[in-house]
Amino acid sequence: MNKTVTLLVCVNQRLTDQKPSCGASGSKALLAALKPLVKEHGLNVGPISCLGLCEKGPNVRLVPAGPVFHHVTPEKLNALVVKAVEFKENLEKPD
Ligand code: FES
Repeated sequence: MNKTVTLLVCVNQRLTDQKPSCGASGSKALLAALKPLVKEHGLNVGPISCLGLCEKGPNVRLVPAGPVFHHVTPEKLNALVVKAVEFKENLEKPD
């Protein structure tokens, strides 16, 4: 059975620099770059607000109930998509 897997990219951006934020670390560009990468694999991608892991950002969470990837950079996006595909395949395995 096909399962829906979504990569949620934290795009939260703070108005001050008192605490780091994923949005200030380039996550909006990551979100834009992921859109064409995930499409061919039947994955979804979208924005989310703060995941509470700001010091480790940019952060990307796999849903449903998947891991969070930290310190995501443009160079890591292809590997991230591979992991998301593996995650989806595991979800779709029959029990
Ligand atoms: S700003 Fe991204 S986890 Fe908090």
